[in-house]
Amino acid sequence: MKKEQPIGVFDSGLGGISVLRELVSLLPAEDFIYFGDSANAPYGERTEREIRALTTAQVDRLAAAGVKAVVLACNTATSAACAPLRRRYRQLPIIGMEPALKPAILSREKPRVVVMATHATLRQKKFERLMARFKDAGEIVKLPCPEIVEFVERGEIHSEALSRYLKERFSIVLQTPVDCVVLGCTHFPFVRETIQQTVGPTVQIFDGAAGTARELKRRLEAIDALRGGARKGAIEWLSSSRDPGCIERAKMLFAL
Ligand code: DGL
Repeated sequence: MKKEQPIGVFDSGLGGISVLRELVSLLPAEDFIYFGDSANAPYGERTEREIRALTTAQVDRLAAAGVKAVVLACNTATSAACAPLRRRYRQLPIIGMEPALKPAILSREKPRVVVMATHATLRQKKFERLMARFKDAGEIVKLPCPEIVEFVERGEIHSEALSRYLKERFSIVLQTPVDCVVLGCTHFPFVRETIQQTVGPTVQIFDGAAGTARELKRRLEAIDALRGGARKGAIEWLSSSRDPGCIERAKMLFAL
């Protein structure tokens, strides 16, 4: 791998931009290619097979563009496709994501933790295994919230409709006090404020973006492929969507 090659960042749509922000902040000298498959989002309502096929096709494109690493900035794509992609590209570091359950559950004594994610992430064996590891350390509640993906894809990150949706989703869960919320989908950090308003100020919210950025840095360091120096890297924005507003929304979310 050459240090000058860009890093590919993939998501089903615009959610991965919440991860890209952390990547750029930790590795400002790197160039990035962001690809959002917004034409096919949401992935979370698709079958494992479809998610794997779509993710593989897009990672193939990034690999053909000459990236030195790929970040699957999508929990859903990671659960369905990360392992087969690592077998397909043995020389290419592929960094995946999983809901940040570990830091949440270890943050206090026996917490009650709500994991918000897509249906596909929550029903995967990968998540079952993660839950099984921490089942004795606290109470883990799964909360699928697929519609948030569509709110974010529309660029609707503050609205009455969003607040109503979140109130409705949390109504039963909040009947028992909640200690932590895990944002197990990369679209969700964009609506963090409304989630915090819904659950109340004492609930601590976790997401996996900063941890993913640190992992990418470690992996690039290990193969001596980190780009240093004082230069400011560039971002190339790509989307499968034909909507000309999509890249504009991407840049708006990046700038938040
Ligand atoms: N952003 C994706 C994730 O982290 C999923 C969004 C979708 O359903 O397409 O899970």
